[in-house]
Amino acid sequence: MMRSTRAPGSRSSPKSNRGVLSRCRICGAQTLKKFLSLGPSPLANNFLTTEQLRRREPYFPLDVCVCTTCWLVQLADVVPPETMFAQYLYLTGASPPMRLHFAGLAADLVRRFSPPRASLIIDVGSNDGTFLEQAQAHGLRGLGVEPAANVVAVAEARGVETLNAFFNMEVAERIVRDKGPARAVVATNVFAHVHDLYGFVAAAVRLLAEDGVFVLEVPYVVEMLDRLEFDTIYHEHLSYFGVRPLTLLFDRFGMQVTHVSRLKVHGGSIRVYAQRPRDAAPSQAVSELVAQETARGLGTFETYELFAQRVHALKHELTGLLRQLKARGSRIVGYGAPAKGNTLLNFCRIGTDMLEYVIDTTPFKHGRYTPGMHIPVFPETRFQSDRPDYALLLAWNYADDILKKEVVYREQGGKFIIPIPHPFIVS
Ligand code: TYD
Repeated sequence: MMRSTRAPGSRSSPKSNRGVLSRCRICGAQTLKKFLSLGPSPLANNFLTTEQLRRREPYFPLDVCVCTTCWLVQLADVVPPETMFAQYLYLTGASPPMRLHFAGLAADLVRRFSPPRASLIIDVGSNDGTFLEQAQAHGLRGLGVEPAANVVAVAEARGVETLNAFFNMEVAERIVRDKGPARAVVATNVFAHVHDLYGFVAAAVRLLAEDGVFVLEVPYVVEMLDRLEFDTIYHEHLSYFGVRPLTLLFDRFGMQVTHVSRLKVHGGSIRVYAQRPRDAAPSQAVSELVAQETARGLGTFETYELFAQRVHALKHELTGLLRQLKARGSRIVGYGAPAKGNTLLNFCRIGTDMLEYVIDTTPFKHGRYTPGMHIPVFPETRFQSDRPDYALLLAWNYADDILKKEVVYREQGGKFIIPIPHPFIVS
């Protein structure tokens, strides 16, 4: 039995504090159809202090829908952004592979668009300034926009000017007035968080110089479906994008998706470039991906129902494996405390009876407890001195790096359990 939590259904959701969507975020049609319920869940980044453990934890429904008109996968329940992003425990720079990734993005921007020296680059949802620091190293002028005050402080300390604000038209107008138009507006891992996609794109377009480019990075819905990455579903992620719905969205602003490339980050993402049509013709990659999405069945409801069935089967397989290992007396911990880990732990009801603790490199998370299942979070040093038998790799998107980094643990008999797409033990 789980030790630390009451059944989530027993807690009332603060209904007055949230909105429920009846129309699709992109096409506006009233054709949202639910295909998966991950149950009432706590907020995935709401790591709790010891003091907070004593208080009632807010739970919200986590139901996933697809619009059967434009086929955008989305959550209908909208938790107010102030609840989720005023303080943020995720630091981009805490994951070394992400630092490399953003160095690559800065180099890509410079190679493709040759922005003149000191061109203004706006990063929306700039987190701790990891990307803009790289852009500045190329001689570009960076300005971040970031709602979480705690991470703004980290960005400023590394020399990245950052506005502490939610991005909207008013902020865009202010930036244009004070700094001029931007050569590029970059939004990585933030677009999925945006409820009002129209307001966001309108503000980004307002910011862009005539020949400016809007660069988006979003997790790719095809990867989520193919690799059973259901744990990337949490309240912060309101939309799960394919290329096709994005082309429809940009079209409404007279913008055109001119190129798309696939990326490894966050379990498989896409980098999408949107420009005014006269600036560039779309590359072949755009039409190819749209065609592949159709061939993959993204325009068929059964595809999503099948995904939901596979998610339920995975839950049984994973919890069965953990129970079996525990019955043999094995010690198991969680490796990484990503937000997605909390979807997995809560949906599968994996608590301290299975995982003794989880470790993570993010200092803000240390000494706290995972939302919902209340598993304590420790620094990596704990894992290195403790050497448990198994580590459930909650940060599976960094599997390559982590398996390399923990070679000594593995040589000494330690094993990793990679949970998706099928629980898999790596020695
Ligand atoms: P990430 O998968 O980037 O994000 P999300 O929270 O959106 O699911 O989070 C990875 C987490 O894993 C982050 O908290 C840092 C942690 N981490 C480690 O603990 N060790 C590591 O070696 C790496 C690469 C990450």
